[in-house]
Amino acid sequence: MTPSALKAEILRLTREYSRLTHTANRPGDNAAHAAFIPGQTTVPYAGRVFNEDEVEAAVSATLDFWLTLGPEGEAMERELAEFMGVKHSLLVNSGSSANLVAFSALTTHKLPEHKRIRPGDEVITVAAGFPTTVSPIIQCGAVPVFIDAKPLTGNADCSLLEAAYSPGKTKAVMMAHALGNPFDLAVVLAFCNKHDLWLIEDNCDALGCTYTLPVELARELGLDHLLKIAEKGEHPIIRFSELKTENLKLLTAPTGAFGDISTQSFYPPHHLTMGEGGAVNIVRKPPLKTYAESFRDWGRDCWCASGKDDTCGKRFQWQLGELPEGYDHKYIYSHMGFNLKPLDTQAAIGRVQIKRLPAFIEARKQNWERLRRGLHGLEQYIDFALPTHATAWNPPSEESSKLQVPSSNFSWDESGCRTDCSWFGFKITIKEDAPFTRTELAAHLDEKKIGNRRLFGGNLVRQPAFVQLKRDNPEAFRVIDCSSANPQSAIHNPQSLLPGADRIMKQTMFLGTYPGLTPEMIDYMVQVIREFAAARAGGAGV
Ligand SMILES: Cc1ncc(COP(=O)(O)O)c(C=O)c1O
Repeated sequence: MTPSALKAEILRLTREYSRLTHTANRPGDNAAHAAFIPGQTTVPYAGRVFNEDEVEAAVSATLDFWLTLGPEGEAMERELAEFMGVKHSLLVNSGSSANLVAFSALTTHKLPEHKRIRPGDEVITVAAGFPTTVSPIIQCGAVPVFIDAKPLTGNADCSLLEAAYSPGKTKAVMMAHALGNPFDLAVVLAFCNKHDLWLIEDNCDALGCTYTLPVELARELGLDHLLKIAEKGEHPIIRFSELKTENLKLLTAPTGAFGDISTQSFYPPHHLTMGEGGAVNIVRKPPLKTYAESFRDWGRDCWCASGKDDTCGKRFQWQLGELPEGYDHKYIYSHMGFNLKPLDTQAAIGRVQIKRLPAFIEARKQNWERLRRGLHGLEQYIDFALPTHATAWNPPSEESSKLQVPSSNFSWDESGCRTDCSWFGFKITIKEDAPFTRTELAAHLDEKKIGNRRLFGGNLVRQPAFVQLKRDNPEAFRVIDCSSANPQSAIHNPQSLLPGADRIMKQTMFLGTYPGLTPEMIDYMVQVIREFAAARAGGAGV
């Protein structure tokens, strides 16, 4: 057999093996998905969703044995950047690495002094969420300034932004689109523009979310890069639409394409997976790519792709630092860098997953809606998540409830902005006066084999790492007193500067919306929760 015939045979067998063994990992709407037995089959909150295509891609790239980031990686970076509508995407080995690289890029001495983030400078972030949105700020010697989160959206209470701003010290805003719910980009961008701050969007949980705003507002906010793409009319997501009732022209674009730099995670629960993996998106300022790449790749000054030499055409003509003239550019280091690249095999898997992304995003939306409809009526016990800018979820009319593909119907605020959530999870907050607690419900769901999670670290400043940090250095971070802008929330919980984050910590959890869930699984989740609530309420009203 020739090597290529041998490879083809290996790949044929690989596909056959995967078809037989990975049935539980297929998309929930795939006819070959493993059968579901209520109470016996675990209903994961998230996980890898793939079929024989990903397994074949992984084996094929492994047989090619490029190993380090190479042709598959370069192709995936291009494909991801295209999907996002950004200048460049750089692959890294995790979402946490992406945050570290993105933030580090903004500390480079190559930036003008007033834009460079220096030790002691402040960065505004949100108290509730995942720790590695915040840790790069501390790792780079800057000071996180925490504002409160709103339990209903999971996102920042943007009315606190001005209170968090210190003239001459604040250099950036770095926050996540919580659980696939975009934060108020219009307000955050206006704030960043007003004070000339960087915006780092942690888009790790929000790939495929979109944000819509009036075109006039997009112009005011300087979103020319998105307006230009929309004008061409070729991008599947970045486009214009019209709100006929208000005679308003709107622009829609993916979250992660609005700020200066944004990040993705490709860990299995996320919208697409490479096993471990992530990406840094350079939205529009090309030099940031070189800085981010340098931090990702050992801190080197050279930007040659792996296996290539002399891309700059003057490899032996540089004189930098105190090195002798002509020192090999490949070994000149302009930053204290890391090595955070993934393998090419991971990128090969990611490329197949990118093709599935539109279907994955749609499945997450539909799964959220099926859960929301199923749990309608429990509002007396549960605060259900609302997309940012939505004011209410409207139950379906009889006609629309008969449709095969459920789509959500929300009422919206007056801003003219809208969000379309590619939900990471189905977030619920148990009311204080419900006949059960969040922890009791979580334990019951565990017993019934239904995966559930907390909104990650809850109020981060109460985590041991942050408590210790403050003990070691009382100046290490600042917390903005939520009563400075919201006297009412302080009345709600006078013990806490961050009552929203505390409520999330104590009463919020989420269930799965991932594309591997089947309708039977979701209906089972609904049934278990309804029965539990009914039993706790003494059988009344559910
Ligand atoms: C908002 C957010 N940022 C960053 C990360 C880190 O991603 P990774 O697990 O790939 O390091 C996560 C993890 O889920 C996350 O939820």
